[in-house]
Amino acid sequence: MDKIKIRGGKPLEGKIFISGAKNAALPLICASLLTDETVTLTNMPMLSDIKAMNALLQQLGTKINDFDDFVDGHATKTYSYRTKDIESLTAPYDYVRKMRASYYVLGPLLARFGKCELSLPGGCAIGARPMDIHLSSLEKMGAKIEIKNGYIYAQSDGRLKGTHILFSGVSVGATCNLLMAAVLAEGTTVLENAAKEPEIGDLAKLLNAMGAKIQGIGTSILTIEGVDKLHGAVHKIIADRIEAGSYAVAAAITRGKIELINAKSETLRQPLQVLKDMGVHIVETPNSIIVDAKGCNLVGKDIMTEPFPGFPTDLQAQFMALMLTADGASMVTETIFENRFMHVPELLRMGANINVHGHASAIVRGVKKLSGAPVMATDLRASFALVLAGLIAEGETVVNRVYHLDRGYEKLEEKLKGVGADIERVKGDDNYE
Ligand code: EPZ
Repeated sequence: MDKIKIRGGKPLEGKIFISGAKNAALPLICASLLTDETVTLTNMPMLSDIKAMNALLQQLGTKINDFDDFVDGHATKTYSYRTKDIESLTAPYDYVRKMRASYYVLGPLLARFGKCELSLPGGCAIGARPMDIHLSSLEKMGAKIEIKNGYIYAQSDGRLKGTHILFSGVSVGATCNLLMAAVLAEGTTVLENAAKEPEIGDLAKLLNAMGAKIQGIGTSILTIEGVDKLHGAVHKIIADRIEAGSYAVAAAITRGKIELINAKSETLRQPLQVLKDMGVHIVETPNSIIVDAKGCNLVGKDIMTEPFPGFPTDLQAQFMALMLTADGASMVTETIFENRFMHVPELLRMGANINVHGHASAIVRGVKKLSGAPVMATDLRASFALVLAGLIAEGETVVNRVYHLDRGYEKLEEKLKGVGADIERVKGDDNYE
């Protein structure tokens, strides 16, 4: 198993091109199931999660073509998806256990074909992550749902029925699934207390380009007038705000300066404000964000994760890494997932001073320096936090379980090397597993 070796201590300087957003691409790929025409997605990131989703759709009968493409002079992928004839309506255990986002096939398959069998995802490294909001909402639209042998059996007699749904909690996944279910339903659906993440806006824009009638994009009330049929479309995936936020921290933690090309500041308001409050200079340009921490003395700052536009849970671990060597104390509160401090024990091994209180909060007290160590994390964002700590630690840090990073950070070593990091990928001997 591959590992990433980092020798810390270099301030990073230069430009990083921000890729298309993984968490937008995954539901948008599944939206292609809603039509028998071709849906083409450009600015797609080359990530293992995208490959996994493509494999699932191929198993359902989708024909996929990929093309090498360029966005602003940077190599990206364009994929075209066509599901003319469906071969299977089942998302099997082997796919879902590798990638929870497989559950995005549920809404589209039920809407277009009236049936879907989906292996029920279990808990994962960051929390229990139930699907109750998805399922109870689909039932309100007339779906019959049964759970048997670890599978969700969902069926609908004819088209789903538009209705008023008040989500009991704010869920990105449930909002996407219900949006995709509602576009082909009979009548009007209102989704209240919907999640407002930019990735949902991107999904709604693609669906409208396919002929859907969605209003209220970017707000917590989405109104969807169902249509009989959707058609093909071409759509460019938005830039990955979490990747941009992660590299913003790389600039700040190394007291360097990085221009994040293609990053959109309106998707990162809270994280950018936290950086400013800590003493980092931020300059917004029409097509980039410049993060400048050269010569800055950073001070600790409290953060609390919340649904968008609040501080994103997907940047909590990276910002905790930033707090490690900032002056004073910072309180980090996680309100979205119940088990998202798995990076803490590894950071402690590098010399951090962190006290976790229960599941939800941690106090970080700034230390003068960190020291390199072999470390491993249990999820994508926690793994990136370890890379960040490695970038400033004395000596060598070896990050194991690199497959987590490959799920969500395109060309990680290449991008960090390009701004001066001493980082390399090495073939592993599996001793750390
Ligand atoms: C999405 O997960 C993202 N995944 C996550 O990104 C992200 O952390 C999360 O949204 C929050 O922003 C993708 O987009 C593929 P939720 P999702 O439904 O949709 C509870 C990353 O690192 N809940 O908004 O699964 C749930 O347990 C990942 O890229 C229910 O109780 O998140 C959680 O506590 C990890 N019942 C909260 O809601 C439900 O039916 C928010 O979850 C659904 C959710």
